[in-house]
Amino acid sequence: MIELAPSILSADFAHLAEQVELAAAGGASVVHVDIMDGHFVPNLTLGPPVVKSLRQATRLPLDCHLMIENPDEFIPAFAEAGADWISVHQEACRHLNRTLHLIKSHDCLAGVVINPATPVETLSEVLDIVDYVLVMSVNPGFGAQKFIPATLGKMRTLAEMRGALGYSYRIEVDGGVALETVGEVVRAGAEILVAGNAVFGDGDPKANASALLDAARSASLQKV
Ligand code: DX5
Ligand code: ZN
Repeated sequence: MIELAPSILSADFAHLAEQVELAAAGGASVVHVDIMDGHFVPNLTLGPPVVKSLRQATRLPLDCHLMIENPDEFIPAFAEAGADWISVHQEACRHLNRTLHLIKSHDCLAGVVINPATPVETLSEVLDIVDYVLVMSVNPGFGAQKFIPATLGKMRTLAEMRGALGYSYRIEVDGGVALETVGEVVRAGAEILVAGNAVFGDGDPKANASALLDAARSASLQKV
């Protein structure tokens, strides 16, 4: 099932509730929340208080993408604030298995994320325990960057491995997803589509979300 997860990074932070509501009216079914610490990535965003407020503003699941060092220190606070899904970067976790179990122990879905330069093979020992794998299709830190086509092969590999090994994780993609790229990411196997600039950048978030979902669904029908 294809789902659209608008990234609030490109939304108007003074009107988050309204922006999320508009995207939801266009068919978005997950809210993607980018957490940046100024260390793991060269940018700063938000913390648990904003997640707590968002929790009051929408019934959609909150997908918290932690781009932070030492995620174990903050996972309990994000879960407490109302995160439903929490993903951590393979590159930021010294004890990845432990961190993923920590997320699950808080009754959140556990996701693992890989940067564009990180191979899928580095996840081979955790694919049986994750609920989703997030393939970064830009280098994390900023919205509105250009999609990196070489990451498509990793989505295909993840889809093939899931079938061959009998795993059940879902495949999420994040970065540069727009009308021009959504078809190829869906055909490569991505099912949860994060989009920031393409939803909140220009125009009406409702119409933008709806157009992206239409394009994604028609591409999924073309899949063999
Ligand atoms: C980048 C973030 C993304 C970002 C995507 O570090 O993880 O979620 O908001 O933005 P777009 O869709 O504009 O590339
Ligand atoms: Zn993200």
